[in-house]
Amino acid sequence: MSVEQERTFQIETTASDDQQMYRQRLVQMFEKSPLPLGERLFNIGMYTRSSILVKFLVMSDIYLRVRDIPGQFLEFGTWWGQNLILLENLRAIHEPFNKQRVIVGFDTFDGYTELSDKDKPSEVWGENSYSTGLSYVDYLRELLEIHEGSNVLGQIRGCHRLIVGDVEKTAPKYFVDHPQTIVAFAYFDMGLYKPTKAALSAIKPHLVSGSVVLLDELTWSESPGEAVAFKEVFSRDEVRVEKCALYPSKTIVTIR
Ligand SMILES: C[S@@+](CC[C@H](N)C(=O)[O-])C[C@H]1O[C@@H](n2cnc3c(N)ncnc32)[C@H](O)[C@@H]1O
Repeated sequence: MSVEQERTFQIETTASDDQQMYRQRLVQMFEKSPLPLGERLFNIGMYTRSSILVKFLVMSDIYLRVRDIPGQFLEFGTWWGQNLILLENLRAIHEPFNKQRVIVGFDTFDGYTELSDKDKPSEVWGENSYSTGLSYVDYLRELLEIHEGSNVLGQIRGCHRLIVGDVEKTAPKYFVDHPQTIVAFAYFDMGLYKPTKAALSAIKPHLVSGSVVLLDELTWSESPGEAVAFKEVFSRDEVRVEKCALYPSKTIVTIR
Protein backbone atom coordinates (compact mmCIF):
# COMPACT_ATOMS: atom_id res chain seq x y z
CA MET A 1 0.00 0.00 0.00
CA SER A 2 1.55 3.35 -0.95
CA VAL A 3 1.32 6.37 1.32
CA GLU A 4 -1.26 7.90 -1.02
CA GLN A 5 -3.62 4.99 -0.55
CA GLU A 6 -5.98 4.81 2.38
CA ARG A 7 -6.61 1.48 4.08
CA THR A 8 -9.90 -0.02 2.97
CA PHE A 9 -10.35 -1.92 6.21
CA GLN A 10 -10.29 -1.18 9.90
CA ILE A 11 -7.31 -2.26 11.97
CA GLU A 12 -7.41 -2.62 15.70
CA THR A 13 -6.61 0.70 17.36
CA THR A 14 -7.29 2.42 20.64
CA ALA A 15 -5.97 5.74 19.34
CA SER A 16 -8.06 8.84 19.99
CA ASP A 17 -9.23 11.08 17.12
CA ASP A 18 -6.44 13.51 17.98
CA GLN A 19 -3.80 10.80 17.93
CA GLN A 20 -5.10 9.55 14.59
CA MET A 21 -4.95 13.09 13.20
CA TYR A 22 -1.29 13.41 14.24
CA ARG A 23 -0.54 9.99 12.74
CA GLN A 24 -2.07 11.12 9.48
CA ARG A 25 0.05 14.26 9.58
CA LEU A 26 3.13 12.11 10.07
CA VAL A 27 2.22 10.19 6.92
CA GLN A 28 1.92 13.50 5.07
CA MET A 29 5.26 14.71 6.47
CA PHE A 30 6.85 11.46 5.34
CA GLU A 31 5.40 11.85 1.89
CA LYS A 32 6.51 15.45 1.47
CA SER A 33 9.82 15.00 3.28
CA PRO A 34 12.63 17.18 1.92
CA LEU A 35 15.07 14.32 2.61
CA PRO A 36 16.14 12.42 -0.52
CA LEU A 37 14.73 8.85 -0.49
CA GLY A 38 17.98 7.16 0.54
CA GLU A 39 18.46 9.66 3.37
CA ARG A 40 14.84 9.17 4.47
CA LEU A 41 15.45 5.45 4.77
CA PHE A 42 18.73 6.00 6.61
CA ASN A 43 16.96 8.33 9.07
CA ILE A 44 13.76 6.28 9.35
CA GLY A 45 13.63 6.87 13.13
CA MET A 46 12.48 10.43 12.36
CA TYR A 47 9.17 8.97 11.24
CA THR A 48 8.89 5.99 13.60
CA ARG A 49 6.23 6.49 16.26
CA SER A 50 6.68 5.24 19.83
CA SER A 51 3.90 2.69 19.33
CA ILE A 52 5.91 1.19 16.46
CA LEU A 53 9.31 1.52 18.12
CA VAL A 54 8.02 -0.43 21.12
CA LYS A 55 7.38 -3.43 18.86
CA PHE A 56 11.07 -3.40 17.92
CA LEU A 57 12.04 -3.27 21.60
CA VAL A 58 9.73 -6.17 22.48
CA MET A 59 11.15 -8.31 19.69
CA SER A 60 14.69 -7.54 20.78
CA ASP A 61 13.84 -8.43 24.39
CA ILE A 62 12.33 -11.74 23.31
CA TYR A 63 15.27 -12.45 21.03
CA LEU A 64 17.59 -12.13 24.01
CA ARG A 65 15.40 -14.48 26.05
CA VAL A 66 15.67 -17.27 23.47
CA ARG A 67 19.13 -16.56 22.08
CA ASP A 68 20.65 -19.59 23.83
CA ILE A 69 17.94 -21.93 22.63
CA PRO A 70 18.52 -23.64 19.30
CA GLY A 71 15.78 -23.68 16.73
CA GLN A 72 13.56 -21.67 14.48
CA PHE A 73 11.53 -18.49 14.84
CA LEU A 74 8.02 -18.76 13.42
CA GLU A 75 5.46 -16.03 12.88
CA PHE A 76 1.84 -17.03 12.34
CA GLY A 77 0.19 -14.10 10.59
CA THR A 78 2.99 -12.08 8.99
CA TRP A 79 1.01 -9.52 6.96
CA TRP A 80 3.60 -7.27 5.23
CA GLY A 81 6.43 -9.13 6.97
CA GLN A 82 7.91 -6.40 9.16
CA ASN A 83 8.59 -8.82 12.03
CA LEU A 84 10.40 -11.27 9.76
CA ILE A 85 12.72 -8.53 8.60
CA LEU A 86 13.12 -7.24 12.12
CA LEU A 87 14.05 -10.72 13.34
CA GLU A 88 16.58 -11.14 10.52
CA ASN A 89 18.21 -7.85 11.53
CA LEU A 90 18.09 -8.71 15.23
CA ARG A 91 19.74 -12.02 14.31
CA ALA A 92 22.51 -10.04 12.65
CA ILE A 93 22.93 -7.99 15.85
CA HIS A 94 22.47 -10.62 18.57
CA GLU A 95 24.05 -13.67 16.90
CA PRO A 96 25.63 -12.63 13.60
CA PHE A 97 27.35 -15.96 13.04
CA ASN A 98 24.30 -18.12 13.63
CA LYS A 99 23.03 -19.02 10.20
CA GLN A 100 21.07 -21.94 11.66
CA ARG A 101 18.44 -19.52 12.93
CA VAL A 102 15.72 -20.16 10.36
CA ILE A 103 12.95 -17.52 10.37
CA VAL A 104 9.61 -18.62 8.94
CA GLY A 105 6.50 -16.61 8.12
CA PHE A 106 3.09 -18.21 7.71
CA ASP A 107 0.22 -16.33 6.10
CA THR A 108 -2.49 -16.75 3.51
CA PHE A 109 -1.22 -13.40 2.15
CA ASP A 110 -4.87 -13.15 1.19
CA GLY A 111 -6.28 -12.04 4.53
CA TYR A 112 -8.53 -13.81 6.96
CA THR A 113 -10.33 -17.09 6.53
CA GLU A 114 -13.79 -17.70 7.98
CA LEU A 115 -14.71 -17.13 11.61
CA SER A 116 -15.77 -19.95 13.93
CA ASP A 117 -18.46 -19.76 16.61
CA LYS A 118 -15.66 -19.15 19.16
CA ASP A 119 -14.75 -15.83 17.52
CA LYS A 120 -16.47 -12.49 17.85
CA PRO A 121 -17.55 -10.96 14.53
CA SER A 122 -15.71 -7.72 13.80
CA GLU A 123 -14.69 -5.62 10.81
CA VAL A 124 -11.10 -6.41 11.76
CA TRP A 125 -11.56 -9.95 10.43
CA GLY A 126 -13.44 -8.79 7.31
CA GLU A 127 -13.02 -10.54 3.99
CA ASN A 128 -10.20 -8.42 2.55
CA SER A 129 -8.67 -7.40 5.88
CA TYR A 130 -4.92 -7.64 5.89
CA SER A 131 -4.74 -9.10 2.39
CA THR A 132 -1.40 -8.18 0.81
CA GLY A 133 -2.31 -9.97 -2.41
CA LEU A 134 -0.47 -13.12 -3.39
CA SER A 135 1.89 -11.28 -5.71
CA TYR A 136 3.33 -9.56 -2.63
CA VAL A 137 5.04 -12.82 -1.61
CA ASP A 138 7.75 -12.38 -4.27
CA TYR A 139 8.38 -8.81 -3.14
CA LEU A 140 8.77 -9.91 0.50
CA ARG A 141 11.09 -12.78 -0.50
CA GLU A 142 13.30 -10.33 -2.36
CA LEU A 143 13.27 -7.88 0.55
CA LEU A 144 14.30 -10.65 2.97
CA GLU A 145 17.07 -11.69 0.56
CA ILE A 146 18.33 -8.10 0.42
CA HIS A 147 18.42 -7.76 4.20
CA GLU A 148 20.13 -11.13 4.61
CA GLY A 149 22.61 -10.24 1.87
CA SER A 150 23.51 -6.95 3.53
CA ASN A 151 24.14 -8.62 6.92
CA VAL A 152 27.23 -10.54 8.10
CA LEU A 153 27.69 -13.88 6.29
CA GLY A 154 25.09 -12.72 3.80
CA GLN A 155 26.57 -15.10 1.22
CA ILE A 156 25.17 -18.04 3.23
CA ARG A 157 21.51 -18.23 2.27
CA GLY A 158 18.49 -20.18 3.38
CA CYS A 159 17.57 -18.54 6.69
CA HIS A 160 14.08 -17.51 5.58
CA ARG A 161 10.95 -19.30 4.52
CA LEU A 162 7.53 -17.99 3.58
CA ILE A 163 4.76 -20.55 3.88
CA VAL A 164 1.74 -19.45 1.88
CA GLY A 165 -1.77 -20.69 2.68
CA ASP A 166 -4.19 -21.38 5.51
CA VAL A 167 -2.20 -22.43 8.59
CA GLU A 168 -4.80 -25.06 9.41
CA LYS A 169 -3.18 -26.97 6.53
CA THR A 170 0.28 -25.45 6.23
CA ALA A 171 1.34 -25.62 9.91
CA PRO A 172 0.88 -29.41 10.36
CA LYS A 173 2.44 -30.00 6.93
CA TYR A 174 5.45 -27.85 7.79
CA PHE A 175 6.48 -30.23 10.57
CA VAL A 176 5.96 -33.28 8.36
CA ASP A 177 8.21 -31.68 5.73
CA HIS A 178 10.76 -30.48 8.33
CA PRO A 179 10.68 -33.10 11.14
CA GLN A 180 14.01 -31.86 12.59
CA THR A 181 12.43 -28.53 13.59
CA ILE A 182 12.83 -27.15 17.09
CA VAL A 183 10.74 -24.04 17.75
CA ALA A 184 12.64 -21.50 19.84
CA PHE A 185 10.13 -18.69 19.36
CA ALA A 186 6.66 -18.49 17.85
CA TYR A 187 4.64 -15.32 17.44
CA PHE A 188 0.87 -15.65 17.12
CA ASP A 189 -0.96 -12.75 15.53
CA MET A 190 -4.00 -14.17 13.74
CA GLY A 191 -6.50 -13.58 16.54
CA LEU A 192 -8.98 -16.25 15.48
CA TYR A 193 -9.75 -19.58 17.10
CA LYS A 194 -9.30 -22.15 14.32
CA PRO A 195 -5.96 -21.06 12.82
CA THR A 196 -4.52 -20.31 16.27
CA LYS A 197 -5.56 -23.71 17.64
CA ALA A 198 -4.19 -25.51 14.57
CA ALA A 199 -0.84 -23.73 14.71
CA LEU A 200 -0.45 -24.02 18.51
CA SER A 201 -1.18 -27.76 18.27
CA ALA A 202 1.29 -28.12 15.41
CA ILE A 203 4.18 -26.40 17.21
CA LYS A 204 3.62 -27.90 20.65
CA PRO A 205 5.63 -31.13 20.17
CA HIS A 206 8.53 -29.07 18.79
CA LEU A 207 8.87 -26.58 21.66
CA VAL A 208 11.58 -27.10 24.28
CA SER A 209 12.05 -25.82 27.80
CA GLY A 210 12.63 -22.06 27.56
CA SER A 211 10.96 -21.65 24.16
CA VAL A 212 8.78 -18.56 23.98
CA VAL A 213 5.32 -18.19 22.45
CA LEU A 214 4.22 -14.58 22.07
CA LEU A 215 0.44 -14.11 21.89
CA ASP A 216 -0.77 -10.83 20.50
CA GLU A 217 -4.37 -10.85 21.62
CA LEU A 218 -4.72 -13.19 24.59
CA THR A 219 -6.75 -10.81 26.73
CA TRP A 220 -8.40 -8.73 24.00
CA SER A 221 -12.18 -9.03 24.35
CA GLU A 222 -12.64 -8.65 20.57
CA SER A 223 -10.67 -11.84 19.89
CA PRO A 224 -11.75 -14.45 22.44
CA GLY A 225 -10.80 -17.25 20.04
CA GLU A 226 -7.07 -16.81 20.69
CA ALA A 227 -7.43 -17.35 24.45
CA VAL A 228 -9.83 -20.27 23.99
CA ALA A 229 -7.36 -21.97 21.63
CA PHE A 230 -4.45 -21.31 23.99
CA LYS A 231 -6.26 -22.77 27.01
CA GLU A 232 -7.30 -25.82 25.03
CA VAL A 233 -3.76 -26.58 23.88
CA PHE A 234 -1.67 -25.76 26.98
CA SER A 235 -2.30 -26.65 30.60
CA ARG A 236 -1.28 -24.36 33.46
CA ASP A 237 1.67 -26.46 34.62
CA GLU A 238 3.24 -26.58 31.15
CA VAL A 239 3.83 -22.84 30.82
CA ARG A 240 4.68 -19.60 32.59
CA VAL A 241 2.43 -16.77 31.43
CA GLU A 242 3.61 -13.19 31.74
CA LYS A 243 2.23 -9.82 30.69
CA CYS A 244 4.65 -8.09 28.31
CA ALA A 245 5.97 -5.17 30.37
CA LEU A 246 6.52 -2.78 27.46
CA TYR A 247 3.39 -3.77 25.53
CA PRO A 248 0.72 -4.91 27.99
CA SER A 249 -1.69 -6.30 25.38
CA LYS A 250 0.91 -8.90 24.36
CA THR A 251 1.49 -11.99 26.48
CA ILE A 252 4.76 -13.85 26.79
CA VAL A 253 4.39 -17.59 27.34
CA THR A 254 7.51 -19.50 28.32
CA ILE A 255 7.60 -23.29 28.14
CA ARG A 256 8.61 -24.86 31.47
C1 LIG B 1 -2.94 -8.75 12.33
S1 LIG B 1 -2.26 -9.41 10.90
C2 LIG B 1 -0.62 -9.81 11.34
C3 LIG B 1 0.23 -8.58 11.61
C4 LIG B 1 1.71 -8.89 11.73
N1 LIG B 1 1.99 -9.95 12.68
C5 LIG B 1 2.45 -7.65 12.15
O1 LIG B 1 2.77 -7.52 13.35
O2 LIG B 1 2.72 -6.80 11.29
C6 LIG B 1 -2.98 -10.99 10.83
C7 LIG B 1 -2.52 -11.85 9.67
O3 LIG B 1 -3.01 -13.18 9.86
C8 LIG B 1 -3.24 -13.75 8.59
N2 LIG B 1 -4.16 -14.88 8.73
C9 LIG B 1 -5.42 -14.86 9.24
N3 LIG B 1 -5.96 -16.10 9.20
C10 LIG B 1 -5.03 -16.91 8.67
C11 LIG B 1 -4.97 -18.31 8.37
N4 LIG B 1 -6.02 -19.12 8.61
N5 LIG B 1 -3.85 -18.81 7.83
C12 LIG B 1 -2.77 -18.00 7.58
N6 LIG B 1 -2.76 -16.68 7.84
C13 LIG B 1 -3.87 -16.14 8.38
C14 LIG B 1 -3.84 -12.58 7.79
O4 LIG B 1 -3.71 -12.78 6.41
C15 LIG B 1 -3.05 -11.39 8.32
O5 LIG B 1 -1.96 -11.09 7.48
